[in-house]
Amino acid sequence: AKLPLAPTPPMGWSSWNKFRCNITEDLIKQTADAMITSGMKDAGYVYVNIDDCWMAATRDANGDFQPDPVRFPGGIKALADYVHARGLKLGIYSSAGTKTCQGRPASLGHEQADARKFAEWEVDLLKYDNCNDAGVPAIERFTTMAEALAATGRPIVYSICEWGANKPWEWAGALGHYWRTTGDIADRWGSMVAIVDQQAGLEKFSGPNAWNDPDMLEVGNGGMTETEYRSHLSLWALLNAPLIAGNDVRTMSATTKDMLTNPEIIAIDQDWAGIQGHKISDNGDLEVWAKPLSGGGAAVVLFNRGPVGAEVATTAADLGLKAWTGYRVRDVWAGADTYTLGKVRASVPAHGSRMFVVKPGLPGKVPPAVAADVRTDT
Ligand code: DGJ
Repeated sequence: AKLPLAPTPPMGWSSWNKFRCNITEDLIKQTADAMITSGMKDAGYVYVNIDDCWMAATRDANGDFQPDPVRFPGGIKALADYVHARGLKLGIYSSAGTKTCQGRPASLGHEQADARKFAEWEVDLLKYDNCNDAGVPAIERFTTMAEALAATGRPIVYSICEWGANKPWEWAGALGHYWRTTGDIADRWGSMVAIVDQQAGLEKFSGPNAWNDPDMLEVGNGGMTETEYRSHLSLWALLNAPLIAGNDVRTMSATTKDMLTNPEIIAIDQDWAGIQGHKISDNGDLEVWAKPLSGGGAAVVLFNRGPVGAEVATTAADLGLKAWTGYRVRDVWAGADTYTLGKVRASVPAHGSRMFVVKPGLPGKVPPAVAADVRTDT
């Protein structure tokens, strides 16, 4: 049976979004080093995931997986040792098919042997892709690998990359720790928003050890503005998404690093109650997304997907909060507090988000400013 290895959404980095097939063991080692020096590890990002293209063009004489001899001459076990020595974990990739999406050997029909290899290499996570399925039903292919991983006895997080093709939210939670809900993200605003639109209604399938995965982060890859990347991160945190950075952490700007490591955004994603947020209202381009938090508060994203700045508003009642004298409103990106009698409203730039944590204030400790219904703008 599945081990409880992801009580909160897994956090880490993956080679795919930025590097595609242009990966080497040096890149993985340098990334592991940068995860530490940048503060990413301390912020919670621990998985270093090698995506497609790590394997040689053919299996070895025993039919076993082997790493690309030019790009990974030291082998995967040495890389696992390298990242483990730094307190990080190593993720690897294969496909539930005859070949990976990039035409490398994959695991259909080799599940037991491949899972044993991953365990022998001391890998901590497998992302299992969906290319070249040979006509075998998805549930069967992803179940065979789940059983093969369990049979190794090694705790290995199982990331089911089925692209939402066969409603994995209905079955993947029994097998793995998170599952992709959509096709691939691209480093563009339109792609990110299209993925957000496909999350509606999926919140009820998500919870501890079984998360919806709206795909890896593009923050820092350059195709969106800083405002758009903040929306990307705000919404991913609201959705309890696995936070898998997809940028070059060796060279990222201070702005990118600060966004990715923002402790309040991460705390919302990682809230122990594990209740995924969802859209609570939708007025053209202006949306309100809310997530109940442990301890009786709520996180809210006021999201403006339109081309001009606008005011977006909601209320404590609409956020599901109990009726109270007043509420503390924490602007998580600004790091500032205000108070309100009940309305939560803010001006939101085009393609922007304002993210707040709203909690009932202490009785008798509500500041006088709430006598008037204060704006939560900062
Ligand atoms: C498709 C997946 O959805 C991507 O995330 C990535 O793993 C590529 N395949 C690799 O070929």
